[in-house]
Parts: sequence; structure tokens; C-alpha cells
Amino acid sequence: MTILAILHYPDARLHTIAKPVADVNDDIRQLIDDMAETMYDAPGIGLAATQVNKHTQLILVDTSKDKSQLQVFINPKITAKSGEQDFDEGCLSVPNIYESVTRAENITVEALDRNGKKFSLNADGLLAVCIQHEMDHLLGKVFVEYLSPLKRNRIRAKMLKLARGYDER
Ligand code: NI
Repeated sequence: MTILAILHYPDARLHTIAKPVADVNDDIRQLIDDMAETMYDAPGIGLAATQVNKHTQLILVDTSKDKSQLQVFINPKITAKSGEQDFDEGCLSVPNIYESVTRAENITVEALDRNGKKFSLNADGLLAVCIQHEMDHLLGKVFVEYLSPLKRNRIRAKMLKLARGYDER
């Protein structure tokens, strides 16, 4: 397995729209394994393929405390949603920034698993937040885009400063 490089906001590649996976094959399963290692190493509770510059409809989520419940969603679609919740979100592509975002409280999501088998899942709370956040990445959307332009520009400036810092090391 390989730890993959995570794109950081405001990298334009984060705004790429991901294509559906046509065939759940060994290449996809390799990507899933590499993404899982990358997510746990970070550490994070969710990762979209977009964030590792692979523009295919694949997200991983593990909201368990002991990191034992990896959930894989290929070509995910939200088929039902209800309610509202506010949650302080973070993102591996926007390190050390946490901001409140309003999302659906309950969702039903349909997707394919790592064997290409279709499944449906009802989620609420943190898991629902995480799935919605990761699915946004597949549409080229980063959570800071829900914030006011003022806040978003501040974050953007901070991230650019940080990136320059990395380069100077
Ligand atoms: Ni994210």
C-alpha cells in the first residue's frame, strides 16, 4: 500500500468533477487500499478520490473511534434526505480549519461496495455529515465554499501562506 499525496485548498484540481466508476476492478480496489492507508495515516475520518487527484466517484468513510469500520462508496447517490444539522467540519485538504456547515440530518445513500455490489445505507449524525462532505468533493466542492466570501478568502490566504512555508523548508 502507498500513502498518497493529498491536494490542499485552493488547488484548482479540487474543483474537478469526478466520473462514475465503470468497472469495479483490481485497479479500483488498489486505489481503495491506498486511500484507506492515506486516510488513517493523516488521520482523517473521510477521504474522496478527488483529494488524491483521482477523479473517479469513490469515497471512504470511517467514523468509528477505533478505526475499525471502513465504509467504501463507489458511485454514491443520495436517494432521500431529511432534517438539518450544524456541524463543525474539517477537511484533510484544508488543514487545521474547522467551520460550521448546515447539512441534512438523515440521508439514504445508494452505492457500490468494493466488490461492485449495490447497497443502500441509512445514515444520521456524524456519518451523514461525513458522507455528504465527501460526496461534495466528487462534485468539485470543498466545504469552505459554504462559508461567507470573507471567511473563505481569509482561509484561502492562510492556506497560500502555509503552502509558501512548505516550499521554503
Ligand atoms: Ni474534505
